[in-house]
Amino acid sequence: MFIKNAWYVACASDDINGKPLGRKILGVPMVFFRNEHGEPAALDDFCPHRGAPLSLGQCRDGKLICGYHGLEMGCEGKTVAMPGQRVGGFPAIKAYAAVEYGGFIWVWPGDGAPDRDALPKLEWVDNPAWAYGGGLYHINAGYELMVDNLMDLTHETYVHSTSIGQPEIDETPCKTRVDGDTVYTERFMSGIKAPPFWQMAMRAQGLDDQATVDRWQVCRFTPPSHILIEVGVALEGHGGIDAPDDKKAYSVVVDFITPETETSMWYFWGMARKFKPQDAALTESVKQGQGKIFSEDLEMLERQQANLLRYPDRKLLMLNIDGGGVQSRKVIARKLAQEAEAN
Ligand code: FES
Ligand SMILES: [Fe+2]
Repeated sequence: MFIKNAWYVACASDDINGKPLGRKILGVPMVFFRNEHGEPAALDDFCPHRGAPLSLGQCRDGKLICGYHGLEMGCEGKTVAMPGQRVGGFPAIKAYAAVEYGGFIWVWPGDGAPDRDALPKLEWVDNPAWAYGGGLYHINAGYELMVDNLMDLTHETYVHSTSIGQPEIDETPCKTRVDGDTVYTERFMSGIKAPPFWQMAMRAQGLDDQATVDRWQVCRFTPPSHILIEVGVALEGHGGIDAPDDKKAYSVVVDFITPETETSMWYFWGMARKFKPQDAALTESVKQGQGKIFSEDLEMLERQQANLLRYPDRKLLMLNIDGGGVQSRKVIARKLAQEAEAN
């Protein structure tokens, strides 16, 4: 079950430049392309003629040309033309609201009125003080497993032991709090050594990578499945997360999780960085490092999902470290109930 009346990331802006993209979202095959003004459009990936996927066709003057017999589809789901045919009586296909923001195409799969204000506010968009880099993983695991993963970073000590993991994560309890539909899980560590990934960031920022630091992780979940995590290190005793910019390396880990099916997801990951924003080589090396870190989660989650499918009746434990995931799932359940009631 998925929350339908919400914005999900469908693809990167570049993915639909000059060509359509087919992608299954919330169990529905959709096609994304641009209209004649360059604005994004989203439709069922289904040609009304014989049911071919429109995404196998091509874009021409803001229309989608079916790759089978040349039917011309408009961005509202109505057939515009077809060689040698009158198309007035052709049935329309479903169109979805789509917007472009922050380098992504967002889709609203539900029937409710799309609410532009419900898009997450991304501080780094069009802001020269920030740099952004990221990528996409397709993962064969239900999206809730990724929510659990990101709302409890205790796993860093084990899954990411060579990059961002360190024993102090285990030793420092995290706190979870809920504010309306937003769930926070926070952990603050002080007087520690930076792990390898953050040492690299400190060097890039011109800080001594061997210095003692304060480190923070502030995870924030908002429905349907967006998680932004403030992370970083600051030279010890300068205020941690609130330290002046030249005393810290501060980033936001960006996680937009879009369900593909009940047991698979599109995972848009990235990092928005508020230090050395002009340094393109640094953006690339942060992206490489982060891509490797998230590939470690990918394997864990896929194997976990396979286990859960194999043993669906086994009861799992709920520990204090699981609070962030538990609270986030409660928000998801409440939203699902609201949508079920409205229908
Ligand atoms: S199936 Fe698309 S034009 Fe025939
Ligand atoms: Fe992880």
